[in-house]
Amino acid sequence: MTNFELEKLMDTNDEWIRTRTGISERRILKDPDKATAFMGAEAAKEALENAGVEASEIDLVILATVTPDFLFPATACLVQNMIGATNAFAFDLSAACSGFLYAVSTGSMYIESGRAKKVLVIGSDKMSSILDYTDRTTSILFGDGAGAVVLEESTDGTGLIDQIHHTEGDTNCSLYQHAGGSRNPATKETVENKQHYITQDGRAVFKKATMGMADVSLEIMKKNNLEPEDVAWLVPHQANLRIIDATANRMGLSSEKVMININKYGNTTAGTIPLCLYDWKDKLNYGDNLILAAFGGGFTWGAIYLKWGIK
Ligand code: ACO
Repeated sequence: MTNFELEKLMDTNDEWIRTRTGISERRILKDPDKATAFMGAEAAKEALENAGVEASEIDLVILATVTPDFLFPATACLVQNMIGATNAFAFDLSAACSGFLYAVSTGSMYIESGRAKKVLVIGSDKMSSILDYTDRTTSILFGDGAGAVVLEESTDGTGLIDQIHHTEGDTNCSLYQHAGGSRNPATKETVENKQHYITQDGRAVFKKATMGMADVSLEIMKKNNLEPEDVAWLVPHQANLRIIDATANRMGLSSEKVMININKYGNTTAGTIPLCLYDWKDKLNYGDNLILAAFGGGFTWGAIYLKWGIK
């Protein structure tokens, strides 16, 4: 769905969207019978193939999402069945745009502790299912997408080196889906009042996200004595190009070291970081230092420092 198509739905224009957000187009899952699990399963199958791992070898499936197929069962359980990961247990993780980072951290702990040998981590969101296409301040930002990684033990010093995560409970409702949960179950009124869509205070979220993502990225660099020249790539959550630029500037990184694909996907929530890794996988070299960083609803934010371990 291009900005030009959005122009036909609401009072907006391509120039405003591109200059304020960096987005030109986003993908929309149009088949009404398919949703987050479908996208997650497709990403998972390709990740398994690339890793040379059979689905039956997976011990754990963690799926990060804010748009589960159902409130329960967990979407991870559906994916577990769809891909035939019959030996895995599976659960969803809800941390909005930081979901993938939190899920990678959680999965890596299972590996480090020796409780799991292979963990499949998926970020998948069908954001179009919770967007109000008459709300020009929010609907233009998001797209549908999914990505996945397979985690396994490393013995050569590569892999996840460090992680920092933060939370600040957002009781001001700056970024919310008000209805559909146990506080406001679905009623005729919640539907009529459009409370099943995302609502946000865009400016407040923008400020918080810019500070949060830049601060935590710098924090993880300092904690690990990393200078800008030591960092091969920043892999940022793709919410707004201006947030990404501010983060890269604070880290002292030039734009060639920053993965940016927001122009073609928009904000796919839990999907953004694995989609970047997918798009850049052929440019990554063994031993490259990567900083993954995200900020999202909750508020949740964090950064991961990892050394690329694929030769
Ligand atoms: N098209 C045209 N004009 C618009 C649009 C639009 N789609 N949306 C808003 N405007 C107008 C506003 O009405 C306003 O007009 P006014 O000055 O007459 O009142 C003007 O543009 C400026 O609006 P602002 O809200 O100040 O615009 P801003 O530069 O802050 O950009 C945006 C808005 C893009 C939402 C920005 O605040 C943002 O990216 N916030 C972060 C939100 C976000 O990313 N949320 C996702 C989840 S959290 C995460 O992933 C980090």
